[in-house]
Amino acid sequence: MRTQSVTVNSNTAQSVPSLLSIENLGLIFQSADRRVHALRSMSLSIAHSEILALVGESGSGKSVTGLSLLRLHGKNAALSGKIFYNGKNLLELSEEEMRVYRGRELAMIFQEPMTALNPVFSVGFQMKEVLMLHAGLTAKNAETRATELMSQVGIPEAALRLKAYPFQLSGGMRQRVLIAIALAAKPKILIADEPTTALDVTIQAQILRLLREVNERESMAMLFITHDLGIVAKLAHRVAVMYAGEIVETGSVAEIFSAPRHPYTQALLASKQTAPRGEKLFAIPGTPPLMNELPQGCAFAQRCAYAEARCHETIPKQNDGAHVWRCIRR
Ligand SMILES: Nc1ncnc2c1ncn2[C@@H]1O[C@H](COP(=O)(O)OP(=O)(O)OP(=O)(O)O)[C@@H](O)[C@H]1O
Ligand code: SF4
Ligand SMILES: [Mg+2]
Repeated sequence: MRTQSVTVNSNTAQSVPSLLSIENLGLIFQSADRRVHALRSMSLSIAHSEILALVGESGSGKSVTGLSLLRLHGKNAALSGKIFYNGKNLLELSEEEMRVYRGRELAMIFQEPMTALNPVFSVGFQMKEVLMLHAGLTAKNAETRATELMSQVGIPEAALRLKAYPFQLSGGMRQRVLIAIALAAKPKILIADEPTTALDVTIQAQILRLLREVNERESMAMLFITHDLGIVAKLAHRVAVMYAGEIVETGSVAEIFSAPRHPYTQALLASKQTAPRGEKLFAIPGTPPLMNELPQGCAFAQRCAYAEARCHETIPKQNDGAHVWRCIRR
């Protein structure tokens, strides 16, 4: 199995204390007839100014991780474990206290832009509200800053577009408005859930440049959720690989791309590699397990070329310095 060859971000992960630390996070969706374990004993940390990419197949739990950090997981779900932000466990805060953290400290760019914007207010109104509330700007300064932010995310005729309602903008423009709103509050951590998937390549490059600039200028940390390993290689400092609701490997971008240790990470990288004619060289066999019928031991066992009897028991965490993976193989 070959792994992808890409030029990786030369930035290294900083060895500074964590800004955000997730410990044994569990998330269970309960409906009348079934329980879905969407997150299972998930642990992860993000350092100040760090860009951590979260990757994994569809349904692995990337979006619910982001939503859980803001406690926006929904009423039919139970969260357990701990989420420490600057030493405070967010899961112990009252809803009122939590509202202070949302937007100002941790902001999210949602995967579904239409549901995240209020349809009855213009995008300018929504952006100015954030700028006045979280950044403390006057109405006049908020107007100027909102126009600036709209231009920075590549929206032409920014002043005019501020007057538009969400339904008057294309999907790509709504996505860019959401990015501008999230950046308006200057959060300490930005959770970006597939923020550039709906955008064409030129705008995508412009947004990634902007996020990188804000990361460096404002020391804004980022949890960047994506399927696009090319973006991971260019943007992130560190990578966390998710499979069936848990983190199976974390390491620096260089470690994950050039020496992946978990067979799932190896398969994921191989499946993204293309032949000269654009054909995929390898596809991961089978499908991810159903989250309400997880097997004993390693959840990847049914699809893994190296599976053996021990894989159906408790799986150890192994590490080589800060490079950590959950597998019986060294
Ligand atoms: N509101 C919900 N009720 C019940 N199950 C849910 C709910 N939201 C998510 N799930 C389940 O949780 C699991 C993780 O979903 P999530 O949306 O986080 O996946 P994802 O990794 O973001 O996938 P994608 O790459 O397609 O966006 C899935 O099995 C999904 O069906
Ligand atoms: S624990 Fe076993 S089944 Fe799971 S990834 Fe490692 S070798 Fe494969
Ligand atoms: Mg998602």
